[in-house]
Order: sequence, then C-alpha cells, then structure tokens
Amino acid sequence: MINIGVLASGRGTNLQAIIEAVEEGKIEGKISIVISDNRDAYVLKRAKQHNIKTQYVDFKSFKNREDYDKKIVECLKEKKIDLVVLAGYMRILSPFFINVYKNKIMNIHPALLPSFPGLHAQRQAVEYGVKISGGTVHFVDEEVDSGPIILQKSVEVSDDDTEESLAEKILKEEHQIYPQAIQLFSEGRLIIKGRRVFIK
Ligand code: GRF
Repeated sequence: MINIGVLASGRGTNLQAIIEAVEEGKIEGKISIVISDNRDAYVLKRAKQHNIKTQYVDFKSFKNREDYDKKIVECLKEKKIDLVVLAGYMRILSPFFINVYKNKIMNIHPALLPSFPGLHAQRQAVEYGVKISGGTVHFVDEEVDSGPIILQKSVEVSDDDTEESLAEKILKEEHQIYPQAIQLFSEGRLIIKGRRVFIK
C-alpha cells in the first residue's frame, strides 16, 4: 500500500481515473494529498468530493521555483508520500524537487514521446500529420517530458481528427495507462536501467 501525492493544475480527469482505480481496488494505494498551484482548479473539487486532503500553494508567494518546491516537498513529506503523480501539473519541477523524489515522480504526456514534447502535443501531432499518436507515462527527470518511459498506448489519427478530437481519443487511453503504471509502481515491478524501464 503506497501513499500517493498528486500535483495538478486543471480539470483533473486523470485524477478522477486514479481515484476510481483506487476505489475499485485496482491500485493498492491511497491518495493522501492533492496539491494545486491553481486555487480554482476543478481537480481540487474532485478531490474534496472523495474526501481527499487538498492544498493550494500560491506560486506568487515564493521568491523562486526552488522555494516554492520546498513548500510542496514539505507538504508531501508530512504525508509520507511514496509516489508523486503529476496529473496535468503546469509547472516544471526544480532539480531540488526531482532529487528528493528521484525515480518516484511520474508524469503523463498526451503524445508518444519522444515525439511532441512540451505544450499542445495533440496540436503538434495533427499539424505534423502523423498517423499514430498516443499517451506516455514516464518517470520525471530534469528535462521536460524526457524521463524513462513506463507505458505507452497508441491511437490512430484519422483524416478528420482535430486537436480536440485527438485529445479526446488520447485521454481515454491516458485514463487506462496512468492507473496501470501506478499499480505497477506500487507492486515494486518497475525496474529502471538507464533510460529503460523493465516490468518485472
Ligand atoms: C492530460 O492531457 C495530460 O496528458 C497532460 O495534461 C492533461 C491533463 O488533463 N499532462 P486532466 O487535468 O487530467 O483532465
């Protein structure tokens, strides 16, 4: 049973999928805290509806990214968090944060990394004209969207897909692979060797 801490900035459909997986016993873990940098994020409402502790941390009250991250790490430590899950968290973590939770931070990205990192991944995919895109769950390292890949799921891009319709298709897969990756972590089955993650 692991203690999970979620960082999120937006609507929180991935959090919702993770909550449901926990409630259905598909994840052996507990979501102990949901932290957001956005006071009005819908993700905080979702957490409250499921009696999960929430915390809003205002970036503007800190001198710099590291001080802000120190506060977040303090909240996570208080809850004895084993795994940090980024679920639509719109901030880049400082090296300080990444070091404290080395190989214990996961992110989900709406493209098949290393294609289309950064913002608007689905738009990038449509504009580039790829025929296949998808979602990627990966461990977080110092670079953006670059850490060792845990799980990926592909979707087809059809001629009439738009950024929005592709995002929707990918999101459905995200909601499957994120809980799966968390459960694999919880079972201690993810072995990282260099860039590669092996599932025991
Ligand atoms: C998802 O598309 C995820 O891949 C990206 O941010 C979005 C978050 O969506 N990192 P939600 O807040 O979980 O609905």
